[in-house]
Amino acid sequence: MTPEELKGLVRTVPDFPHTGIMFRDITTLISHPLGLAATVRHLADRARELGAEAIAGMEARGFIFGAAVAVELQLGFVPVRKPGKLPVEVLGIDYHLEYGTDRLEIDPGAIAHGQTVVIVDDLIATGGTALAAAQLLRQAGATVDDALFVIDLPDLGGAVRLREAGVDVTALMEFE
Ligand code: PRP
Ligand code: ADE
Repeated sequence: MTPEELKGLVRTVPDFPHTGIMFRDITTLISHPLGLAATVRHLADRARELGAEAIAGMEARGFIFGAAVAVELQLGFVPVRKPGKLPVEVLGIDYHLEYGTDRLEIDPGAIAHGQTVVIVDDLIATGGTALAAAQLLRQAGATVDDALFVIDLPDLGGAVRLREAGVDVTALMEFE
């Protein structure tokens, strides 16, 4: 399936989780048997081109795509977690969302110094989540030059923010 065909599988839900938000829902994309496989293949092809040595994905939707890409490329997967979930001393960072604030944490021991880590998530909006993940991974010693997304919402400026921070962005599709 082409990215254009995959875009047709994404469901848009107006006013979720708050009035005025157009929620781009991947549930309909991943419940389609070919949809999930084709999406992962497109992301994995790009991660391979970029020389990924490990894949990092953000809880929760980034785990779905990131772990599958890691399996496809036979690479390790670094979970970037919501707070209080990891049983070790963590590196943590607070960040802003399109609709609220949150915190991410990683186990710094999951990354080898200088390792090229490619970030994978379902969607980039303001870029706050991906920027926070890149900062954390870099703090842990990773080289983070690239982030891959299924969906980009360019009007929210996330991809521009990431590129300003030295993280190149690839997305399979865009929504206004
Ligand atoms: C969503 C999405 C991205 C992030 C994008 O995750 O999966 O991770 O928001 O927004 P940003 O570019 O403005 O930071 P959310 O925090 O809603 O968590 P979830 O995956 O657990 O639903
Ligand atoms: N995460 C942040 N903004 C979002 C949106 N508009 N749709 C789905 N997930 C999101």
